[in-house]
Amino acid sequence: MSVLVIGAAGAVGKRLIGALASRGERIVAVDKAPELPESIRHLVMHAETNKDVRDFYTMQRIFQRHRFVHTVWNLAAPLSVETARNPKIAEQVTINGMRNVLWAMYEARVKKILFTDSIGSFGALAPRESCTARWLTEHPMQDPGSDYGRQKRGVRRLLKEFWNAGGDPRWAVLPGVLHSESTWGHGTTEYALEALLTAANCLSGKQETFQCPIEPTVRLPMIYVDDLTRGLLALQDADESQLREPERGYALPGVSFTAEELFKEIRFHVPSFEYNIQIDQNMNTFANLWPDTLSTSEPLRDLGYQSSVGFRELVFKVLIAHRDRLMT
Ligand code: SER
Repeated sequence: MSVLVIGAAGAVGKRLIGALASRGERIVAVDKAPELPESIRHLVMHAETNKDVRDFYTMQRIFQRHRFVHTVWNLAAPLSVETARNPKIAEQVTINGMRNVLWAMYEARVKKILFTDSIGSFGALAPRESCTARWLTEHPMQDPGSDYGRQKRGVRRLLKEFWNAGGDPRWAVLPGVLHSESTWGHGTTEYALEALLTAANCLSGKQETFQCPIEPTVRLPMIYVDDLTRGLLALQDADESQLREPERGYALPGVSFTAEELFKEIRFHVPSFEYNIQIDQNMNTFANLWPDTLSTSEPLRDLGYQSSVGFRELVFKVLIAHRDRLMT
């Protein structure tokens, strides 16, 4: 039996594959890239590269080739800013891609699928504090205020249909994911990754000024990638009877902070860190729409998940990991 990970080469995919491999899972890695990143190549049993979720027959053939898949992760989706720049393509990947995956799973009789939803699903009417995935299921008509959020909603609808057809879909609402990879896509919470990399560059002697694209007082929920991976695996592993939240959706909380707080903490380690404010309209709009904090009680109750990496530790971990990478 194996786990099939679509979008394997992304920041979340790579970490998830690392964690799955270390507990002995056999992994089929699917990605649109021509090859997998070196760090995961030796961890996977089969690499299905150059594969596009937008093509149903490609997905169908993958499931025909790999007969013993027990769980599917569909991580293939553009981030918020990419979606705003090219909503049509984003829709094809996010919604049509998921539809293709679900059809191929249905034919192959594979039931369990996990989807990474986003804080981008919450619009202006959502609570600011302790947001739950349940709120999204109870307010299906709220306007998330972006194509990004609307597309995630479209996916949740598909998952619900899949559930009604006997499937076992589960989804996690992800905050901004913080990690120490050197590259990432164009998103909103990614401003924090950019700031931390700029600071690490300063540490290794390359002085730059960080351009902050959002109002520095806006608070956003974030999560360290190790916490995220733990939470995601808990969602995958949970017995169906444990999952008491509607539609099996869980927000995974980490820590919340403003850009101002981040810069202050960065300066504690990197006193030469400089920034100025250069608002990006899309990013600032999204940052203001999205909630400040996510609820901790449901994932703790049903998944036994709580975040373990606090704000100061998170900043330190990312900075040190970048510095070590930049110095080798
Ligand atoms: N990091 C994501 C984005 O900003 C949040 O879902 O696009």
